[in-house]
Order: sequence, then structure tokens, then C-alpha cells
Amino acid sequence: MVFYFSGTGNSRWVAEYIAKELNDSLVFIPDAIKQEKYSYSLKQEEKLGFVFPCYAWSVPTFISQFISMLNINNVSYLYYICTCGDDTGRLQQEFCRIVEAKGWTCYLGYDIMMPESYVCLPGFDVDTNEKEQNKIYAAKSKLNFAVDDIIDCRKGTFVTLPGGCTWLKSVLLRWAFHKWLMTPRYFKTNEKCIGCGMCVKSCPFENIQLNEQRPEWGNQCVDCLRCYHSCPSHAIEWGRWTSKKGQYLMPKDFHGF
Ligand SMILES: Cc1cc2nc3c(=O)[nH]c(=O)nc-3n(C[C@H](O)[C@H](O)[C@H](O)COP(=O)(O)O)c2cc1C
Ligand code: SF4
Ligand code: SF4
Repeated sequence: MVFYFSGTGNSRWVAEYIAKELNDSLVFIPDAIKQEKYSYSLKQEEKLGFVFPCYAWSVPTFISQFISMLNINNVSYLYYICTCGDDTGRLQQEFCRIVEAKGWTCYLGYDIMMPESYVCLPGFDVDTNEKEQNKIYAAKSKLNFAVDDIIDCRKGTFVTLPGGCTWLKSVLLRWAFHKWLMTPRYFKTNEKCIGCGMCVKSCPFENIQLNEQRPEWGNQCVDCLRCYHSCPSHAIEWGRWTSKKGQYLMPKDFHGF
């Protein structure tokens, strides 16, 4: 069973690939949260996987909250795959602690570098088309190694991308991100908005409503930026710096090279 979340599609692509190769079922975490479905039973020798993006050099908070609510029978082999734009700091240690608190052991973790989705601060933008293609190409071969390791039930395999200054990023900057930056408060639309409602449809948490043809953001936001990247008019802005930034979505029908 593969539990996954994805904002811009990278982690969905990874999760779908793994589920296909392992012949496993997929659970989209926002659907499970909406249905308040936290109890699951694994078949004999079925593996338990989590696939999600890295946010602020850490496990997204709602993912760790979701895991803490889970009640799963027969957990024998557990792994995670995290997609990131650059590096993940101490995410591996954090994820292992989250599942240990449930009495489970994480045996394998892979960080897979994928196209960048974070655009809100100066200095952060989507990758060039060429860089996106190169990252996806490299990701595909890393993913094949990960799948082989999962099929072999490899234990103690952690192929991670911590980068430098991990304490600074995963402790100090993470704290600052969550305190000031992971919020829907700064979303707004500009004059290019055509009231098409695409942003409403795109939000995995149904957090956007149209009011007189203009979107309004609620408080159930996980900061995945799917709405920003989905707008066909590039009419959504987050704060002051995104109007000239790019947009990125992994196409739904993209299955690799
Ligand atoms: C709020 C936010 C924070 C992010 N923080 C990081 C980060 O700390 N390190 C990193 O390498 N990428 C970071 N990214 C980039 C994403 O992890 C990366 O693009 C990921 O593959 C997106 O996955 P998705 O398409 O499944 O949503 C961040 C993206 C967002 C939206
Ligand atoms: S997707 Fe963009 S253009 Fe369409 S309603 Fe939302 S903000 Fe406006
Ligand atoms: S409002 Fe936008 S950023 Fe927030 S959860 Fe929905 S799609 Fe993601």
C-alpha cells in the first residue's frame, strides 16, 4: 500500500510508478483525511510506503499528523520516498522518528530530486525546461534502484540528499518557514484572473472558493502551491515576488522516458 501526497505532480508520478511496479494500491492522503479513513489492513508481506514532497527541509506537517492517526495491521516492511527540488536536510531522521513513535521501523528511504515547485521567496523559482527534463531523467533511473531495493526488502538503505548546514535548515529555517511563510494569508489574484475556477478544482484540500468570480483562500492550506501553478492566466500571486516567477506542473499523463 502506498500513501502519497503531491501538490505539483512530482510525488504523484513517483507514487504511481512504484504502485505499478509493486502491484500495490495507492491512497491519496487528502482523500483519506476527507473520509476520515485512518484504519487499514495490509495483506501478508505487503509493503507500506509513503511518498511525499519535502517542505522546508522537513516532512510536511500534515503528513506527520496523518501518520500519527494511522492504525495499520501487519506492518512488516516500511519505506519512504521524498521528492525535493534540491536538498532535504534532516528529513530522513525526522521521518524515522515519526514512524518509530508508532512502533514501526523505517527500513528504506530515498530522496529524489525533481523539478522545483517553490517560488514564494526571492531567489527561488521553477527550473528551466532543460533542467526539469534532466532532473526527471535522472529521477527515473534513481527510482528504478529504489523499486529494486523495495522489492528486495533492503534494510538500512537511505539514499538521501541532506545538503549542507542541515541543522540551520531543518531546525532554524524550518521553524521560521512554519511560523511566517507556510500560510495562505499572502495569496491574492491580479487583474489577469478570468474567473475560470481552475484554482478551485486544483486544490487537494478544497480550500478555495469563488466569490463573484474571484478566488478566496480558506485556512485548510498545506502550502503545496498547486493553485498557483495551475492557474492558466498566471493570475495568482503569493506575496510580492511571484508575479514574474514561472509555473510548473508534472503532466498527469507523463509516464517517463
Ligand atoms: C512550501 C514548499 C517548500 C519546499 N521546500 C523544499 C525544501 O526544503 N527542499 C527542497 O529541496 N525542495 C523544497 N520544495 C520543492 C518541492 O519539494 C519539490 O519541488 C517537490 O518535488 C514537489 O513535489 P510535488 O510535485 O509532489 O508537490 C518545496 C516546495 C514547497 C511548495
Ligand atoms: S485559476 Fe486563475 S484565472 Fe482561474 S479563477 Fe483561479 S485565479 Fe482566476
Ligand atoms: S490553497 Fe493552494 S497552496 Fe493551499 S492547499 Fe490548496 S492548492 Fe495547495
